[in-house]
Amino acid sequence: MEKKTKVSLSGIQPSGKITLGNYLGSIKNWVDIQDSDAFDNRYCIADLHSITVWQDPESLRDQTYQLFAQLLAAGLDPEKCILFVQSHNPSHPKLSWILSCFTMFGELSRMTQFKDKSQRHSDNVNAGLFTYPVLMAADILIYDADIVPVGEDQRQHVELARDIAIRFNNRFPGSFVVPEAYIPKEGAKIMSLQDPSRKMSKSDSNDNAYILVMDSPDDILRKFKRAVTDSDSRVIVSEDKPGVTNLIHIYSAVTGKSLAEVEAEFEGKGYGVFKPAVAEAVIELLRPLREKSLELLRDKAYLDDVMAIGAEKARAITEAKVREIYEKVGFVLSKAK
Ligand code: TRP
Repeated sequence: MEKKTKVSLSGIQPSGKITLGNYLGSIKNWVDIQDSDAFDNRYCIADLHSITVWQDPESLRDQTYQLFAQLLAAGLDPEKCILFVQSHNPSHPKLSWILSCFTMFGELSRMTQFKDKSQRHSDNVNAGLFTYPVLMAADILIYDADIVPVGEDQRQHVELARDIAIRFNNRFPGSFVVPEAYIPKEGAKIMSLQDPSRKMSKSDSNDNAYILVMDSPDDILRKFKRAVTDSDSRVIVSEDKPGVTNLIHIYSAVTGKSLAEVEAEFEGKGYGVFKPAVAEAVIELLRPLREKSLELLRDKAYLDDVMAIGAEKARAITEAKVREIYEKVGFVLSKAK
């Protein structure tokens, strides 16, 4: 099989709302990779993965539309990439089953995310939570992805996908491209505004801890004003000033200025000037995204159509791949329509 361009594939779960951390840490990278024109781009909303922890059905559906609108608003362009909802392409779970027969119980038991999540959701340690990385491997391998842009927390899952691909290829040569995690070097690590030792997370019980892409300018300003800082008021990066350091990182990521430039800009100015400046920069970054998303969300029929286009393109690629793999493992290919 000849491939012209290298393939980039990633996924994002629609469980919960999208934070500034999600935007700077993943979505913006996807858009940059798409716009670099160096790859064929495939991005999915991983709703199948979401139900490994309990979801309210109406919220899940709503968040899927919200996320889809935000991805479009952020600049993913259905002309330049295949943007689709994972459950709209049944090839993923089909391949996942086969790959699960090439994945060892021990390998899955060692996944740190499984260990974390089974502790956090100890009343619901379901089989899907355990086999989650196999489905993710299927998402990746079914498109012959070369790179998988993800955050550091997903590195182990991509490594497993590599191991599964290599194992499968040993048995059935040439079946899958062996993918590589593509983790931005200077990944903007955005921490909680209330506890800067923890990652900014939408599942935080304190909603002042995170900024959402859909937050209003007033909310953003209030959250930054309340952000935890330190007793002295110098705007410098320092290990013993994690709160201010986090704000400097955010300001730097949003404005493109280096950390040193930010320090210089606010030398002798104090938090009273710095915090509203960070808020202002974030408000302006998110404003077009929020406005465009709200506009798109007013037209669900349009979003449904764009989802359908993505699903059709995705299926066209993966149905052939599933047939190829079915044949390799020895299934009779059905002639049923
Ligand atoms: N598991 C990923 C996360 O939670 C989301 C995801 C699903 C994904 N399928 C993928 C990421 C395929 C990369 C490739 O962040």
